[in-house]
Amino acid sequence: MAQQEDVFKKIVSHCKEYGFVFPSSDIYDGLGAVYDYGQNGVELKNNIKQYWWQSMVLLHENIVGIDAAIFMHPTTWKASGHVDAFNDPLIDNRDSKKRYRADVLIEDQMAKYDEKIDKEVEKARKRFKENFNEAQYRATSPKVLELAEKRDALHKRFQEVMNAEGGIDLEGMKQIILDEEIVCPISGTRNWTDVRQFNLMFSTEMGAAAEGASKIYLRPETAQGIFVNYLNVQKTGRMKLPFGIAQIGKAFRNEIVARQFIFRMREFEQMEMQFFIQPGTELDWFAKWKETRMKWHQNLGFGAENYRFHDHDKLAHYANAATDIEFHMPFGFKEVEGIHSRTNFDLSQHAKYSGKKIEYFDPERNESYTPYVIETSIGVDRMFLSIMCHSYEEQQLPDGQTRTVLHLPAALAPVKLAVFPLTKKDGMPEKAQEIINSLRFHFNCKYEEKDQIGKRYRRMDAIGCPYCVTVDQQTLEDNTVTLRDRDTMEQRRVAISDLRSIIEDKVSITSLLKNLI
Ligand code: GAP
Repeated sequence: MAQQEDVFKKIVSHCKEYGFVFPSSDIYDGLGAVYDYGQNGVELKNNIKQYWWQSMVLLHENIVGIDAAIFMHPTTWKASGHVDAFNDPLIDNRDSKKRYRADVLIEDQMAKYDEKIDKEVEKARKRFKENFNEAQYRATSPKVLELAEKRDALHKRFQEVMNAEGGIDLEGMKQIILDEEIVCPISGTRNWTDVRQFNLMFSTEMGAAAEGASKIYLRPETAQGIFVNYLNVQKTGRMKLPFGIAQIGKAFRNEIVARQFIFRMREFEQMEMQFFIQPGTELDWFAKWKETRMKWHQNLGFGAENYRFHDHDKLAHYANAATDIEFHMPFGFKEVEGIHSRTNFDLSQHAKYSGKKIEYFDPERNESYTPYVIETSIGVDRMFLSIMCHSYEEQQLPDGQTRTVLHLPAALAPVKLAVFPLTKKDGMPEKAQEIINSLRFHFNCKYEEKDQIGKRYRRMDAIGCPYCVTVDQQTLEDNTVTLRDRDTMEQRRVAISDLRSIIEDKVSITSLLKNLI
């Protein structure tokens, strides 16, 4: 675990050192849980968005895109339930004056029992050496069984308070914190306030105060921009059910526990698609979208074992099925995408609050009804993080050296081809520029002439550039170059005129999309 934490720290510093992700307003020491994407980060992020957008809008004739505003009429959030129910349970420590999410304190406590169990197992492994049978030890050691029993009892109590009639049982939650003797990590004391609900939406004022400014919210999800445009798109696009509306855009949540770098941010980006369907067909479509979305993830080649579904037992009152796609991050399996069968809740709520009829006339059934919705919702930043985590490697080379390499899928890499003149003379820089000029319209190329070739390769490995080309003396004679592969580090001599056909297909988003149909 500690080793994984070290790897994660290295990934975070790598992101900064190589221009992928910077803390926001870095010169002022950053702003909590807000990040900026640098020169390489923005390219990777744009490629992820393109992969998602094209897989939705290009590959499905019945899915169209929109780009709704971040600010929405305040009644939107009343109708969607976010004003009344988009809350986190918070608790303050009176001594440190620090605020925590009460549910996270309890989850951390459960994780501590697991850590203690793992420590017992490791101690036993050292003691029994090759005779050690881990499964048997976990099933029979009195110490391990006692810890597991405590963890399970805590888990059961936690489930009960989280799922209490009428919402979270806040008093019950505080009682767990007291009974488990959970202390504040800063002050070390148990001097806790009561647990209170705290709304996660950021708000601001629209208009000057004198004109009667109104309170509006920064959207906490992009989905509502789709729901309120359902009629506009359906009518102007003459869309027939089933059809989908896709959108990529910023969302904002005042997360109290903002941890794990870009995993939980206050300003982040979502890629959401609402698929409108006939009532009664939702469970079939839910299964279909689960499969489609998992295929999209696994198509990146990170190994099926690194993904899993986490089906929700406890459903929101408007949902009749929900699952998360989780990815194996260095800090465990974590949600990257949510797929929800949202019934007709959102459209019905907007119809009720706006007084407009939001329905679909089904010519085949000769009747009108409110469509049901399957939603797929993925965080761009979490996707970015999962790609970084999986691609990062500190590789031991046969010559005893190490290199840091990002094995990014070539289609997502910020730079696809780096072109180096071997030396800065004899017309080699000009030849290198000539190659770039002929290829720059087809994919992202970068010119590099500083330092020795070995160092230049390392810099390109560190940003995940799949191909490097070196222009040398022979190039000037026969128009061939050495082409070096990032992952195998193999070099081969190829004609300049063949470069485009060798590289383009492998680095294009189309190469990924082709496997999806
Ligand atoms: N419209 C449904 C919705 O917003 P969600 O599970 O709250 O559902 C969907 O969010 C996805 O958005 C998550 O799976 C995650 O990838 C991303 N996400 C949510 N909160 C986030 C945060 N604070 N920072 C980064 N990504 C976040």
